[in-house]
Amino acid sequence: MNITYYGHSCFEIIVNGKKLLFDPFISGNPLAKSINIKQLKPDYILVSHGHEDHIADAIAIAKQSDAVVISNFEIVNWLLKHGVKKGHQMNIGGKFTFDFGNVKYFNALHSSGLPDGSYGGNPGGFLIQSTEANFYFAGDTGLTYDLKLIGEYMPICFAMLPIGNNFTMSVDNAIIASEMIKCSKIFGMHYDTFPNIVIDKNEAIGKFSRAGKELILLNIGETFNFQKK
Ligand code: NI
Ligand code: MN
Repeated sequence: MNITYYGHSCFEIIVNGKKLLFDPFISGNPLAKSINIKQLKPDYILVSHGHEDHIADAIAIAKQSDAVVISNFEIVNWLLKHGVKKGHQMNIGGKFTFDFGNVKYFNALHSSGLPDGSYGGNPGGFLIQSTEANFYFAGDTGLTYDLKLIGEYMPICFAMLPIGNNFTMSVDNAIIASEMIKCSKIFGMHYDTFPNIVIDKNEAIGKFSRAGKELILLNIGETFNFQKK
């Protein structure tokens, strides 16, 4: 299973041969200048919530790739109004079976206004259950006790958690979150993009390591090959 990082909270993960692109914010991210969004041809685009730094490139990439956008009801409807052709509306707590596996839209403790001020529904994250691996993409969230439910639903092989603090949980809270979801392989996201979320990466990796967990911070453009043991 290949996991490619495109900066901020954007990952492309290939699940059973389908390309899933999460939270595309690339062209507006100065750290991701090396990435040309024209080369991205996902089958699905998963948008966790309506904020610009998660949705900015969704319309352009959906148009060029004919991807299906998966998000909450309000966000998908907004995207369909803005030229996206294919969308799949979900809402908090719901699960649907796609051709690559199951997606459960899980609540996040955050907000979700769309770039033009439209109502963006409730923010979420995605629990992906597939024959290759189960994983959790948290989106933007603070630490919340609800995360314990994920650890009870299913074993998680890896998770994408925000670690930049200020807008989301911090490194220390992400360690607690990884306990709650019973997952010790964490890909960090939502850090360094803006001045108020710059972190000390070595310190963060050390903190996870001392807690008996692995924090993986990919370079932008880097691909990690995950093999289920
Ligand atoms: Ni946000
Ligand atoms: Mn954000």
